[in-house]
Amino acid sequence: VGTAAVVSGCSFAGGAFDGPRDEVGQVPLTTPLAIPPLAPSEMDDDGVRTFALTARPGSREFLPGTTTATMGYDGDYLGPTLRAKRGEQVRVRARNELDAETTVHFHGMHLPAIMDGGPHQRIPPGGERTPTWAIRQHAATLWYHPHPHGATEGQVTAGLAGLFILDDDEEAALDLPRDYGVDDVPVIVQDMLLGDDGASRRENGRFVGTLGNTLIVNGIYGPYLDVTTQRVRLRILNASGARIYGFEMSDGRDLVQIASDGGLLAAPHATRQVVLSPAERAEVIVELQPGETVVLRSEPYEFDDGPGGMIGRDDRFDVLELRAAATLTPSPAVPAALAAVEKLRVEDVTQERSMEFSGTSINGQDMDMGRIDEVVTIGATEIWNVRNDNGSLPHNVHVHDVQFQVLTIDGAAPPPPLAGWKDTVLLLPEVEYRLIMRFTDYADPAVPYMYHCHLLWHEDQGMMGQFVVVEPGQEPIPPTDDGAHA
Ligand code: C2O
Ligand code: CU
Repeated sequence: VGTAAVVSGCSFAGGAFDGPRDEVGQVPLTTPLAIPPLAPSEMDDDGVRTFALTARPGSREFLPGTTTATMGYDGDYLGPTLRAKRGEQVRVRARNELDAETTVHFHGMHLPAIMDGGPHQRIPPGGERTPTWAIRQHAATLWYHPHPHGATEGQVTAGLAGLFILDDDEEAALDLPRDYGVDDVPVIVQDMLLGDDGASRRENGRFVGTLGNTLIVNGIYGPYLDVTTQRVRLRILNASGARIYGFEMSDGRDLVQIASDGGLLAAPHATRQVVLSPAERAEVIVELQPGETVVLRSEPYEFDDGPGGMIGRDDRFDVLELRAAATLTPSPAVPAALAAVEKLRVEDVTQERSMEFSGTSINGQDMDMGRIDEVVTIGATEIWNVRNDNGSLPHNVHVHDVQFQVLTIDGAAPPPPLAGWKDTVLLLPEVEYRLIMRFTDYADPAVPYMYHCHLLWHEDQGMMGQFVVVEPGQEPIPPTDDGAHA
């Protein structure tokens, strides 16, 4: 039997948290994992698959006998799983019943900037927005979350997050587990900083934002999953504000990674550990023996992360217990080949850019809602050289609109988990990441996309820039909204 995330301060400390919860010790993984429901959708008269999402305040009993204030979409915490297929038109009626401004951003989605749900696409309290776009990308595990300027950490870590699963024919043709909630299971991981009365707090004592003392998976504290099949596919999303996880099985057995942020890898990659920084996703397949119990854990991750060692790296804790039934339905072997991952070509690159991540600024500048930082010509293939300049402070980089590829890491080819489509990548200190990306389909000189660190407190501090995609020769039109929110 495993034990959950609340352990003594030395192994899962969220900074200077000094409440009695540090003494609680380990708790058993005894609550069934909840599965986010699949969101219903309707075909509108114009043939568009239409979803509705309402952001609202709520509360949850994470710790027995306590109440934690939360936020959720169509519920108290997290949101339903949206699902659509390549080629479909989709629409989301997004309503705001919070008492603060919000947005609904579709993380990892290729879509017009005005539909993206970034900080300019504000939804005031009581308001609504209905972005509409076509799905033009590979099957993938994407997600959605708020992106209000300077106020994202509080909303996301309170529970405003949900999966957006994309399907396509290529993925459907493979013999993979895909029975949602049975052998194809979302695992949305957030850490919360809870007092023993259940009250949640945020703090940034170590300049990374809030590191929690309590792990919550799909809204459940201390979860287990009953598994009835020989293999189970976990779609893991790190929806935390700052924490970097090194996911492993308790007995060290392989996790077989089949997909990264933007879709299937070329081939399955068997590995002991899958590292995810905030906003990254991985799809992994775990094989089980009848009747056994094994625990998905987070262990110190195995990268060389520089002199100081990155903040939170030494924490170790349980995430989810898998309990295999006495008899398991046989599952097909993981296919040896998964997807044709088109390699973006250096020969096609027409523009290189450099981004230095330092403190909570990019190239020495903080986010300005009225400033366009980069102008991209539609159709261009570009290389962005991104570097984390900060000794031991972790950062990552997320680029809106595109799925990129990691070309090199300090000159070397990326390891297999980073060789597929990515929209967010961890930036180890003092290491150069060359990212290659192609901008297609959507130009709008007046509406910027974002690129930023996805450690949410850093993002809120202004570690973000704006780019517009323009037609050749077109001039950018800087936005006039100032980013102040009600
Ligand atoms: Cu997941 Cu700019 O965000
Ligand atoms: Cu950062």
